[in-house]
Amino acid sequence: MAFTTRLSILIFLFNTNILCQVECDDPLPPPPPPQFRTSAQYHFPYIHQSFQCASECRCSPFFPFAMYCESRKLKYIPNIPAGTHYLYLQHNEIEAVPEKAFINATSLQEIHLSYNKIKSSMIDKGIFGRLKSLVHLHLEHNKLDKVPSPLPSSLERLFLGFNKISKLPGDTFHGLVNITMLNLCNNQLTDGSFKGNILARMKSLMQVNLCNNKLKSMPAELPASLLQLSVENNSISSLPPNYFKKVPHLISLRMAHNKLKEVPYAVFNLSNLLELNMGYNKLSQAFYIPRRLEHLYLNHNHFTRFNITLMCPTTDLQNPKQLTYMRVDKNMLTRRFDAFLFACFPRLQALVYGEQNVAPTAEHRREPRLFGMPVTSPDGEPDNPLPY
Ligand SMILES: *[C@@H]1O[C@H](CO)[C@@H](O)[C@H](O)[C@H]1NC(C)=O
Ligand SMILES: *[C@@H]1O[C@H](CO)[C@@H](O)[C@H](O)[C@H]1NC(C)=O
Ligand SMILES: *[C@@H]1O[C@H](CO)[C@@H](O)[C@H](O)[C@H]1NC(C)=O
Ligand SMILES: *[C@@H]1O[C@H](CO)[C@@H](O)[C@H](O)[C@H]1NC(C)=O
Ligand SMILES: *[C@@H]1O[C@H](CO)[C@@H](O)[C@H](O)[C@H]1NC(C)=O
Repeated sequence: MAFTTRLSILIFLFNTNILCQVECDDPLPPPPPPQFRTSAQYHFPYIHQSFQCASECRCSPFFPFAMYCESRKLKYIPNIPAGTHYLYLQHNEIEAVPEKAFINATSLQEIHLSYNKIKSSMIDKGIFGRLKSLVHLHLEHNKLDKVPSPLPSSLERLFLGFNKISKLPGDTFHGLVNITMLNLCNNQLTDGSFKGNILARMKSLMQVNLCNNKLKSMPAELPASLLQLSVENNSISSLPPNYFKKVPHLISLRMAHNKLKEVPYAVFNLSNLLELNMGYNKLSQAFYIPRRLEHLYLNHNHFTRFNITLMCPTTDLQNPKQLTYMRVDKNMLTRRFDAFLFACFPRLQALVYGEQNVAPTAEHRREPRLFGMPVTSPDGEPDNPLPY
């Protein structure tokens, strides 16, 4: 991957966190991007003539391809005019997506149907598959127990969080050659839900969120394109030694709130990993810290000490480790880090030591200071971006 591509993906990923906070936590998504064409292509009066806004909805001359029907207590999908690209139907009481719903709206690119009451059995089979321009589909906070299928091969981002999905048959995501982001957080997925390398077959997938499900182990297969993986708040208790070999480009890994007691020593030796969240597990043994890692969360674990020699078996002054932020509060640390910590992580700017789960002694009651550097409290953390 060319450097510029990598960079733009990074920016994209960090934007995604912000975006996701808006999209996942905040009921109203941001307005659609204005579709400004060159003046030669932009025939505003013509577009408006052919675009009959549904009486239940609102349309804006400034976003001539969008129809806003959110938060209107609608129980059905109104008539969608041909030419609509962006459709906002979130926060309604819609229960069904019948065959005729998008019959004229064949150029839909984004559909927002989150926060409705849609059941899988009430979605006409094939209705989304017929929308050959669909790029974003939002179906989070509904009553789905299945992923609607088939989906169009144009799809790039699929939001299915906060449903009741428990099974993903082998053909569920068939043909999604361009999908980059899949959010299945807050469903009822178990280890047996993933049939037939279902994730690995999506060759463009960059971000997979499986947080708040019922996984006991890591998904068996992942695509090599993956950059960001979240399996937070499951019941994962083991991590195979070579697990991440199949995702060598991984940038962000979030595994907080699981049941890991140990991890293989070099399992996170990934050359692009920037963020690693292992908080709220039961870890007590240090592991190898990859060189580019910047943010490390080890809070709420069972560490009694950190063996720096294990984290940094060698120190390379020319290529020092990039860690700037480390959170270790709520462990069982009884002694301060040794000075070698700074030889290991010369870029460290914030170490969140916080409280430890140990009986207080005179030493621990002292103001937490680390060789003159004040130790930040958990409130001072830079970001904890994953929304639930
Ligand atoms: C589709 O378009 C036809 C012709 O313009 C119109 O009669 C019909 O009501 C439309 N159907 C829907 C569901 O929008
Ligand atoms: C996938 O994305 C590429 C690049 O944007 C595009 O040219 C191609 O048509 C897309 N494929 C499908 C099936 O939409
Ligand atoms: C984790 O998931 C459980 C349900 O499975 C939920 O009750 C709990 O609030 C979740 N915790 C976090 C931190 O999201
Ligand atoms: C980490 O991976 C690199 C190559 O990617 C390898 O040279 C190095 O020995 C590995 N380190 C550990 C501790 O496994
Ligand atoms: C740290 O780990 C190394 C390598 O396993 C070991 O040799 C050393 O004794 C450990 N140090 C302490 C203080 O436990």
